[in-house]
Order: sequence, then structure tokens, then C-alpha cells
Amino acid sequence: MTSRIIGTGSYLPELIIKNDDLSKIMETSDEWIASRTGIRERRLVKEETTAYMSIQAAKIAIEESGVKAEEIDLIIVGTITGDYITPSTACEVQAAIGANRAAAFDVNAACTGFMTALHTAYAYMAAGVYDTALVIGAETLSKIMDWDDRSTCVLFGDGAGAAVVKKDTVGLISMVQGSDGQKGMNLSCKNRESKNPFNQGKDTIYYTQMNGQEVYKFAVKKVPECISEVLEKANICTDEIKYFILHQANMRIIQSVAKRLKVSEDKFPISLDLCGNVSAASIPILLDQVNKKGMLEKGDKLVLAGFGGGLTWGATVIEW
Ligand code: UT7
Repeated sequence: MTSRIIGTGSYLPELIIKNDDLSKIMETSDEWIASRTGIRERRLVKEETTAYMSIQAAKIAIEESGVKAEEIDLIIVGTITGDYITPSTACEVQAAIGANRAAAFDVNAACTGFMTALHTAYAYMAAGVYDTALVIGAETLSKIMDWDDRSTCVLFGDGAGAAVVKKDTVGLISMVQGSDGQKGMNLSCKNRESKNPFNQGKDTIYYTQMNGQEVYKFAVKKVPECISEVLEKANICTDEIKYFILHQANMRIIQSVAKRLKVSEDKFPISLDLCGNVSAASIPILLDQVNKKGMLEKGDKLVLAGFGGGLTWGATVIEW
């Protein structure tokens, strides 16, 4: 027994911010952003919250899956930008969709968040604990950006993607996951500090900082490595894979991964041009877009692979 994705959904905020909109308010250009990253526009929240976007994506995935909310045993949200420290986004989703039986919690693995949530759900199901899970990746990255730092704020966007996963005889074939905490400070966002009556602290909030070149070097090495490893575990070669659904951080990273794996770039669907980097949400959003376009048939084999803050990575081979 394994488990299979039986429904997907996604939500993108209505507000579209193009590269030229950014160049009006900071020293950047469409040329720089598009040529260095492939990003042309991104969606940013106005009224929407991380929970709201998660709930919209979840409702679409549940409807497509045909399961009832009350049948869901487990809800896991990969996010670093929940609306509250507690309750978790997963608990907010549970309340909104009426998944009364579900255990619900968030996981923090930054851009690998959806992969980590998916693997956790798979592991619970493989252990026979649960049968049906709702797995979400959702981010409101715009609220943790330093909008005076052009080297980071132009890269990221907001959104959510979801998948319903159910116990089945086909589905997940293999998975790998890892982290390198030694390199963690290359992509960081410090938690708030606060003063109390007994310290000399101050109330301070912090924003995302990234050593882009170090993260880039990590990604172009680690992503092909972990994809090769997960394929080897599955005893499947790249030719048998229909699509490689990668975390959408930078077009140049995706091109480099394709080259290192000796796979045509046509097998790497893209959403970063219109969404930017949506961290934990990027893989489930892209998977939903590919699914909704009718590009997937039962029996297709896919690789999903994420990487990012932590530093973390994770890859899985699935049968659709
Ligand atoms: O999802 C989590 C994982 N994250 C990633 O995978 C990100 C990985 N890193 C990257 O994708 C790339 O390193 C970036 C896109 C972040 C940056 O590209 P780069 O080619 O590494 O550029 P750079 O940081 O070396 O900056 C080159 C130049 C600098 O100017 P000087 O020092 O050469 O004069 C920057 O100040 O570009 C300048 N620059 C900008 N110029 C215009 C930095 N940001 C901007 C900007 N607009 N927004």
C-alpha cells in the first residue's frame, strides 16, 4: 500500500505586480529581473491571508478528489508565514472546511515545506495511522520582505496550493529528504524580539535576508543530486518521467538542473514567470496548473523536488 494524490487546487491573489511596477518604486528593471530570474510578474495579497488562500486552494482540491471534508484524517500546511503563531494555519483550514476528524498542524521547511508536508502525510499513511490527508503549501511572503532590499523583494510572491492524498495501491514510489543547518544563515528571517520587565530587549521585527549566490550554488548542486537519488531508489530512469515539477525560484536554476540531468527543458513546467518564488506554495501551485491544463494522465510518473531555507531539500517520485 502507498498513497496517491487524488485532487489538487490552488489560489493566487488578485493583485498582479509586474516588474515595471517595481521599477517605478525602486532601483530595478524588468530587464534585470527577467534576465536573472525569468520572473515577469508576481501576485501579492491585499486583503487575503495565508489561511484564506489555503482554504480556497483546499476547497478546490477536495472537490476534485471527491472525498468529504469529514473523511480527512490529517491536515498539514507547509508555511513560514502563517497568520498566527498559534493557532496553526492547518487548524484554521480545519475549522473553515469542517474537517472535524482531522489532526492538523503546520511544518516549517521554507521552500521545501510542501515536500516535507507531503512526505509526512505519506509516512503517517504508510504506518497505517491515517487514510486520507490534505496537504497544503501556502505563503504570504510579501509580509516578511524588506521592501527596501531590491535583491530579495523582487523575487517573491504570495499564493497557496493544495493536494488531497489517499491510501492506494499506486502513488508515491520513493522519497528523499535532507537538510544542512550549517548553511542555514544563507537564507534567514529572524523571529521578532520583545522586551519584558526583566530584560533590556526591544520590540523589533525582522525581514528576509538571502545570500543569493550561496543559495544558487547549493541549489544547482543539491537538486540534481537528490533527483538522481530518488530516481535510483525508485529504479526509474529520467526517460520514464513525464514532468519534473521543481520549486520555482529561478529559471536559470531549472535550466541548470535540466542540463545536469541531461533532460529536455520541455519536461520542466514553469510558473515562476507569472507567480515569482512562492516558497512552500510553488510546487503545489504548479502541480495544480499542470493538472488543470489536462497535461496529466493516470499512470504518468512525475518527480516533485523542492529546496530552500534551512537549508533543506526533498524530492519524490509519484505515479499519477
Ligand atoms: O526559494 C529559496 C531559494 N532561493 C533561491 O534559489 C535563490 C538563488 N539565487 C538566485 O536566484 C540569484 O542569486 C539571484 C537572482 C538572487 C541574484 O542573481 P545574481 O546573478 O546572483 O546577482 P547578484 O546577487 O550577484 O547581483 C548582481 C548585481 C549586483 O550589483 P553589482 O554589485 O554587480 O554592481 C546587485 O547589487 O545586481 C544587483 N542587483 C540588482 N539590480 C537590479 C541585485 N538586485 C537587483 C535588482 N535590480 N532587483
